[in-house]
Amino acid sequence: MTRHFLADDDLSPDELTEVLDLADELKKNRFSSRPLDGPKAVAVIFDKHSTRTRVSFSVGIAELGGYPLVIDAQTSQMGRGEPIEDTARVLDRQCAAIVWRTFDQTRLEAMAAASSVPVVNALTDQYHPCQLLADLQTIRERKGTLAGLTLVYAGDGANNMAHSYLLAGANAGMHVRIASPAEYAPDPAVVVRAAELAEATGGSVAHVVDPADAFTGADVLATDTWVSMGQEDEAAGREAPFVPYALTSEAVDAAADGVVVLHCLPAYRGKEIAADVMDGPASAVWDEAENRLHAQKALLTWLLERT
Ligand code: CP
Ligand code: NVA
Repeated sequence: MTRHFLADDDLSPDELTEVLDLADELKKNRFSSRPLDGPKAVAVIFDKHSTRTRVSFSVGIAELGGYPLVIDAQTSQMGRGEPIEDTARVLDRQCAAIVWRTFDQTRLEAMAAASSVPVVNALTDQYHPCQLLADLQTIRERKGTLAGLTLVYAGDGANNMAHSYLLAGANAGMHVRIASPAEYAPDPAVVVRAAELAEATGGSVAHVVDPADAFTGADVLATDTWVSMGQEDEAAGREAPFVPYALTSEAVDAAADGVVVLHCLPAYRGKEIAADVMDGPASAVWDEAENRLHAQKALLTWLLERT
């Protein structure tokens, strides 16, 4: 059966640990996995902008022995309305996997339903699960463990990063707290699913609106842009409500000793994160960006072994 990675909970807790362990191994022995020798091609398709995802998948696929076929969807026939399913039927006969950054999750699900090779979510409006693999790898490097840690994500609670923190954090047995304005709360269905996962792993999930004590006791503080890709028209209204949730030095002071600060990047200093926090001693953002490479190589290796 073809395994896909469309959302964070497509890996069980044990499988998540396997992928993270392999990511650590590939960080130490960078060229020790060659599942794409040939080279076999992997299609990496972008409906939205990207720096880190484009670079880390391109470099990673090459390091796995393969050929990264990076496609700008707008200049492909997808941009002129060719059905997703027909695209899948063409790609899966020539590529070992399909990695796609797109808009609604249903588009990715349609690709996976028609594809005989693994389909990987490189960010949708709803989830960013590859980012979470890198984030969890980074947290584990700094803290030695994941289960039992308190992770606070503050900002837009309704975006892809918030949803992936809920699912992946719960899967890892963490206590995940989303701090956001009430009108930017996480999708209730995702909260319910994350709570189910947390029940099984010993973690927990919560949504808090009051920013006053949102950061208290956090082992990990995370945030993301207040204006995600596709929301540019709403930018003017997407500032004032989020200001109390910014990662400032006061937030870091309220957190636990040794707090780790994460941001998936790109970051907007002075908005969702203060410059002195982003560039300060608690920040792990550059390791986090590097770990995209190792984590995604591990994921592709793991998926290809099972397909
Ligand atoms: N964090 C992340 O996915 O970055 P890019 O948008 O640059 O790929
Ligand atoms: N929430 C952001 C993440 C960027 C990596 C967006 O979707 O634009």
